[in-house]
Amino acid sequence: MSNLRLLAGPDLSSGAEAFADHNSRLGASPVGGRELIDTLTRSGMTGRGGASFPVGHKWQSVAASKRSAVVIANGAEGEPQSRKDRLLMTTRPHLVLDGAFLAARTLRAKQVVIYVGDQHQAAWAAMARALAERPEPERSLARMAAAPHRYVAGESSAAVHLVDSGVATPITTPPHPRDRGVAGAPTLVQNVETLAHVALIARYGDAWFRSAGRRGAIGTLLVTLAGAVKRPGVVEVEAGTTIEEALAIAGGISEPSTAVLLGGYFGAWVKASNASELPLDAAALHAQGLSLGCGVVGVHPASRCGVCDTARIMRYLATESSAQCGPCFFGLRALSDACSRVAERGTNREDIARLKRWSVEVQGRGACKHPDGAVIFLRSALNTFSDEFAAHPAHWRQQPA
Ligand SMILES: Cc1cc2nc3c(=O)[nH]c(=O)nc-3n(C[C@H](O)[C@H](O)[C@H](O)COP(=O)(O)O)c2cc1C
Ligand code: SF4
Repeated sequence: MSNLRLLAGPDLSSGAEAFADHNSRLGASPVGGRELIDTLTRSGMTGRGGASFPVGHKWQSVAASKRSAVVIANGAEGEPQSRKDRLLMTTRPHLVLDGAFLAARTLRAKQVVIYVGDQHQAAWAAMARALAERPEPERSLARMAAAPHRYVAGESSAAVHLVDSGVATPITTPPHPRDRGVAGAPTLVQNVETLAHVALIARYGDAWFRSAGRRGAIGTLLVTLAGAVKRPGVVEVEAGTTIEEALAIAGGISEPSTAVLLGGYFGAWVKASNASELPLDAAALHAQGLSLGCGVVGVHPASRCGVCDTARIMRYLATESSAQCGPCFFGLRALSDACSRVAERGTNREDIARLKRWSVEVQGRGACKHPDGAVIFLRSALNTFSDEFAAHPAHWRQQPA
């Protein structure tokens, strides 16, 4: 049986599926309404943007407000290794729009914002063209908004802030956007892949959604396979598929590997020997203290230095914060400096002790989850590359990203 749901249909190389073709392949989208919220809740579907939050629960919260809502389709995709959202927007834009307009009708939204990373030009063009193909009143209800090319621009409160003020920096939560977002209105911020699943669940039901999945997991998901992989790119797999099985679809690994970065830069390093059997399922990974994040599996080749790559990513995360809060402005910067010193000048006991101590102290203190994601990543590096951190030579092995 094919695993393809979101990516079923015409060959992906043929670009965006036109509205007429999309409708003749899948049938017109249902209208939505209260029963869709119940269907989504029963489906057990969770968000695909990183936090794996239950979708039905979020829609219930927004629907509970008396005020009309705003819907933001989050296609910022700021995670450097992720490719899934832009692939989906570029090839199946109407699935994303169906999901966004189903949300709008169900939640009585007065505005829909299609929020696309300004670096993803093909995705932007496909979404803008698709929007122009939609009938009224959908076309007038929605508008495109460019997410600046910054890691934090895809954070939900940053998306709200951009729509409100033109500045994509996170703002303190709570209140969460679902309670108080754009212009104070309850705002549903939902990842574009999540919305595409909603479009199919609305057509085929929760039992259909649950009929896919392995090892007790449910549904399908898009996974970006990156790094030392024979055919890097995006695959759609049943939830619960193991990392080894997903890599096999891409021809397997291209060279010996020491570790896998699971979940992207906010995820965690896992030793290669422990990674193969891990299921790509948010709940199962959470039970093991890991995160699926936005579904990135980055295979780290043995030829690269784990300490140097960790220092490079920490530098990126420190630079990409919005530098508004202490844990980012001081904490991430100091952690990144200490990590770079180990990478450049070699192991010293003081910096290793600082990395261990500060990576705990920073957690939970930012206005958004950016510093938390960064220190979870760092702690996983200290664990996975413990031998390398304990005896790193005094040189920076310059290696491109
Ligand atoms: C620093 C940071 C960056 C984020 N970037 C993205 C992003 O690019 N795209 C995205 O969908 N979610 C991103 N998120 C998660 C969003 O805050 C939010 O949880 C998500 O868009 C909700 O959609 P979902 O429930 O469908 O996953 C980011 C979160 C953080 C803390
Ligand atoms: S925690 Fe960091 S990224 Fe988040 S708002 Fe504060 S400074 Fe910005």
